[in-house]
Amino acid sequence: MKYKGIVLAGGSGSRLFPATLGVSKQLLPVYDKPMIYYPLSVLMLAGIREILVLCSPQDRSGFERLLGDGSQWGLQLSYATQSTPAGLAQAFLLGRDFLKTNPCALVLGDNLFYGHGFRSILRQATEHAIGCTIFGYHVHDPRAYGVIEMDEQNQPVSIEEKPIHPASNFAIPGLYFFDDQVVSIAESVRPSARGELEITDVLREYMRRAQLRVECLSRGFAWLDMGTTDSLLDASNFVASIEKRQGQKIACLEEVAYRSGFLNETQLIALAAKFPNSYGDYIKSLVDRRAPSKRP
Ligand code: G1P
Repeated sequence: MKYKGIVLAGGSGSRLFPATLGVSKQLLPVYDKPMIYYPLSVLMLAGIREILVLCSPQDRSGFERLLGDGSQWGLQLSYATQSTPAGLAQAFLLGRDFLKTNPCALVLGDNLFYGHGFRSILRQATEHAIGCTIFGYHVHDPRAYGVIEMDEQNQPVSIEEKPIHPASNFAIPGLYFFDDQVVSIAESVRPSARGELEITDVLREYMRRAQLRVECLSRGFAWLDMGTTDSLLDASNFVASIEKRQGQKIACLEEVAYRSGFLNETQLIALAAKFPNSYGDYIKSLVDRRAPSKRP
């Protein structure tokens, strides 16, 4: 069955106050494009075109103004609001009618992924009919994240949310692939000590059912979150360095849509005309780069 996607772009962004008092965190720029472009591009690379954007009621109009119905990128976007953020697992309760019995990918609106071969890693994750696929990423300090511990056979043995004493250095990035059991599992989750429906409780249930797969992302891969002033600046600097050096953009949705075959050349050129700047010039240049001799 076809995978659907959810981008979780709710929350108050309190760690970024006052920057996020007037605008949603996921609408802030990360170098040359809004933050939400980065997670959205991940779902597109996974081949997912039907996507629900979950945001707070006061920010909905901003997201709609920015992203519309998604048809400009060959997507079908819809929106739902989260009036009181109650944890990541709430996404499945709010998204129940959207998901129906489809499998789904959930991506957090403040996570950035960048690395070689990502498209095929994502495509593989959508090939499983049963269970859940998550990723593991080695970080220096995993205490701010969900942490996964694995045995010698790379099988998951424990999962903890923001542990004081982490069992490993492997954080769980905010990108998860689930089968159709996820809604009923999320319904059975009870709020944690901090009052949230934790995604890690959903993952632990998949692990109990021996249906949790963990793919470790290699050191050649970048996973950044953008939820604090420092990490937001780091992400902007990271994107700027790569883009200036290579002359290729990260998470340019027009490019991802075009290369994924969601748009044709005429549609791409029409989109470029919306941007009277270097972003538009870049989109225009993609048609030329597609020529076999010039393809990167
Ligand atoms: C959430 C999840 C955590 C995950 C992290 C990734 O934490 O609860 O398991 O590792 O996202 O960014 P948050 O940063 O929303 O507190």
